[in-house]
Amino acid sequence: MPYTVPKLTDFSKASLDAANLEVTNAVAQESEAVHSEAEWKAFRDRWMARKNGILTQLNELWLKVAPGASKREVGQRVNAIKLHVELVVEVTRCGAIFESEEAKLSADRLDVTLPGIGRPLGAEHPVVKTMNEIVGVFRNLGYSVEEGPEIETDYYNFEALNFPPNHPARDTQDTLFIAGQGSKPQRDRLLLRTHTSPVQIRSMQKMKPPVRVVCPGKVHRNDAPDATHSPIFHQVEGLAVDTNITFCDLKGTLDHAMKALFGSSVKTRFYPSFFPFTEPSADVQISCIFCGGRGVRDGAPCRNCKASGWIELLGCGMVDPNVYGFVDYDPAKVSGFAFGMGVERIAILKYGVDDIQLFFNGDVRFLEQFV
Ligand code: PHE
Repeated sequence: MPYTVPKLTDFSKASLDAANLEVTNAVAQESEAVHSEAEWKAFRDRWMARKNGILTQLNELWLKVAPGASKREVGQRVNAIKLHVELVVEVTRCGAIFESEEAKLSADRLDVTLPGIGRPLGAEHPVVKTMNEIVGVFRNLGYSVEEGPEIETDYYNFEALNFPPNHPARDTQDTLFIAGQGSKPQRDRLLLRTHTSPVQIRSMQKMKPPVRVVCPGKVHRNDAPDATHSPIFHQVEGLAVDTNITFCDLKGTLDHAMKALFGSSVKTRFYPSFFPFTEPSADVQISCIFCGGRGVRDGAPCRNCKASGWIELLGCGMVDPNVYGFVDYDPAKVSGFAFGMGVERIAILKYGVDDIQLFFNGDVRFLEQFV
């Protein structure tokens, strides 16, 4: 039963003591039940509200009705109760605040023994990693790095590289052309570059010989995706132009590069080929890194080199003198070589990957093996 203020009729000391004890017990008991700020406010108002709080009622029901002889005594007691109640209310407020803070704190409590939120570190993509490795080999030989646009003009991608308009060699590098350019002259039409060779032309326009540059980048071809083809892939192209550069320099440079990439026991072989912008041209083959060039592995024909002992890896050649005509170099004074390799092809061999599509699917289980 909640405490109610009794109407005093008996003003004897014993009766006053009893009434007094009842009030102080009540306020103590009710204070115990306060655990939040809202409960405290209700508690405060019940005891101290000016209008009908218990303290006000004490004035009305005890003091006002006390006979003259007891007025002083009752007044003192009511005053003492008032001070006591005010103190209890204040102490209760501190307790309630403390309790609700405690509750908040324990709700927010951090369990420092829980496992943390792991944020996996990113890492270089295997294609970028391989590209950087290839570029690194040539930087060590004194080559600088040049980059060019992925959307090229017909002129830089084909014409200045000695692919005349309608020349059949263009068919080997079909690509996407930007639409709606019918009104432009053919040489200005934009396309997705099919090789990084246009950067050769841009570099030679920018610099005078001696030139030694490597051009890494993304290229596009009209190739249906399968285990060894992708319509988007990457190349590193190289160009060296100076006085008296010969095919021997080309052979020595690429032989060194292949040994740096695949190990010093790798041999190279140069096989006649054709590119419009090099003459003579060659495909470079390396001795098969899977069977050591023997063509046989574990007693069976090596599948990686089709038992030939050789793997074809890149194209190269001596820069065709016609190309110098496009960049104002004097073919009577300078000579040079160029080479271009597919980055994915090299990564596939280096890391034993069996499907080029794995590089582009974005499957973290595949990619994290290269971290
Ligand atoms: N650009 C040629 C290709 O993409 C490769 C190459 C570069 C060949 C330089 C010779 C010289 O197929």
